[in-house]
Amino acid sequence: MTATPPELLGFRITHRAMRGDARRLAVLATELAAGRQSATPARASAIAAFIATLNHGIHHHHTMEDELLWPVIERSAGAEVDLRDLSDDHAELDPLLAEINGQAAAFASTGDASALARSLTRLADMLDEHISEEERLIFPIITRYVSAADWNTVEAAVRKGGNPRIDLPRIEQYARPEEMARLRGLAGPVLVLMLSLFRRGHRRRERAVFGPSAGVPARAPRHG
Ligand SMILES: [Fe+2]
Repeated sequence: MTATPPELLGFRITHRAMRGDARRLAVLATELAAGRQSATPARASAIAAFIATLNHGIHHHHTMEDELLWPVIERSAGAEVDLRDLSDDHAELDPLLAEINGQAAAFASTGDASALARSLTRLADMLDEHISEEERLIFPIITRYVSAADWNTVEAAVRKGGNPRIDLPRIEQYARPEEMARLRGLAGPVLVLMLSLFRRGHRRRERAVFGPSAGVPARAPRHG
């Protein structure tokens, strides 16, 4: 048992955002494929760019889990945990992400979203299953065995390879108000300042993809 348990809130909200964005994109691509929504070339490019950014974030997140977090967990918890199934899921996700990037680029040039809709739905389903399993299996183990110092090192490395301009307003979009208050308390004024700088660009990208009411925290879909 560790003295101060690791703070898992940031990871939990990142997981929620990955699942939420994948699902929203799957629904959008399905609507586009069925002709219930339409996309100008500018919207189609914005959708393809949004997808590429999400996929890059998912790849980075699970690479950090494989390379940094799993060794920390194995070192701290030893025989208590078997991470092979979760690593297998990661290996299965990568080719799907690459396929979706290709399909998103094809959609931006042809306007046909049918293949993209199928793959994004598969991605959203896989992430739902994988992330629930990951949180069920490893969050209690991290809380019990991993030191706050080790956890903070992992989180810092994850953040360093991310893009705060994208990541922070997305966390704000998916956090519940009480979670956001806790994150502000942990991160201090720098978080408030960065959010004020990045919020507008985030909303612009959200509106270009999902329509006029997208990207506002109070209206964000709630997952997890
Ligand atoms: Fe994972």
